[in-house]
Amino acid sequence: MITLGIETSCDETASAVLSDGKVLSSEISSSVHLHSRYGGVVPEIASRHHVEYIYPVAQKALKDARIKPKDIDLVAVTLGPGLPGSLLVGMSFAKALSFSEEKPLIGINHVHAHLFSSFINEEGKCCIKDKFPFIGMVISGGHTSIYKCDSLKNFTPIGRTKDDAVGEAFDKVAKVLGLGYPGGPRVEERAARFKGEDVVPFPRALLQDKEDLDFSFSGIKTAVMYYWRDSSKTEEEIDRICFSFQEAVVDVVVKKVLRAIKKTGLKRLAVGGGVINNEAMRSRLAEEAERKGIELFLPDEAYCTDNAAMIAALGEALHEEGLQDELTLNADPGIY
Ligand code: KG4
Ligand code: ZN
Repeated sequence: MITLGIETSCDETASAVLSDGKVLSSEISSSVHLHSRYGGVVPEIASRHHVEYIYPVAQKALKDARIKPKDIDLVAVTLGPGLPGSLLVGMSFAKALSFSEEKPLIGINHVHAHLFSSFINEEGKCCIKDKFPFIGMVISGGHTSIYKCDSLKNFTPIGRTKDDAVGEAFDKVAKVLGLGYPGGPRVEERAARFKGEDVVPFPRALLQDKEDLDFSFSGIKTAVMYYWRDSSKTEEEIDRICFSFQEAVVDVVVKKVLRAIKKTGLKRLAVGGGVINNEAMRSRLAEEAERKGIELFLPDEAYCTDNAAMIAALGEALHEEGLQDELTLNADPGIY
């Protein structure tokens, strides 16, 4: 079973080839450098980058995997959520390929696919079937959600952000501090430089109600903005703010997901999305998982941010269950 994955939901043009659940190739061309000066993704620039790169990226993924288009058994493409202009490029490419090669096409939910990246092991093999039920958490630039995952077709959202996504908060804080885009890696780098004890007590939202699994990050973003406005604006102060912000965000995310685990009684956790690149987040989750006997699945660095291997992996798994083409079954890109 050969699956070609296509991902163009935001600022990464990606394509991957999977053979019976094993990643043969995974190509990504990012337009992140083009957005850097604007402090966030500019949809028009992202779409144009996809138009330019989708063909060479897919061609390279096929070449690296030594696969010809005629050998593909399934085309899996991100259906949503994402930037409409960006999604359109990937979907048009995938539809044309499926049409010309007469191969089935499947539309994939990008957020669900992020969870699949946690199950791609060191050999590049994606094994998810025996992992249900589990708690899935996606922490990225566009999403912050917790799901109860009972089966391939049954991902129930049990917590989500009421405003900003966690990665978005990293990006906005970086913008305020003049660190550039994407903010996550830059904030993490500056936080690692802080060696003091004097941590800024930034707010940790929605922790009072022990049943609440939702998030809110707009308050902490504003708190950082005001703190920075009145600060001495030294390099040391930037390090201190980054460290304090990161501590507060990690604290909230970890506490909320532990709550979800306690509430559901499930002892297996998979986390996906760009923010799981963050070392402080990874180690805090690993510590808590160890302490509480939770089986934890985190993606390799290559599969944390947007990639097409996760799209192909979910596509292949759904296809095996007999689902042919979600694009025609359900064309609403808003379900997640
Ligand atoms: O999953 P992703 O590539 O795109 C979305 O689906 O949104 O995630 C990108 C997000 C950005 O907000 C970026 O700042 C954040 O992931 N990110 C990080 C780190 N690396 C990427 N956030 C915190 N620490 C990092 N090391
Ligand atoms: Zn993503």
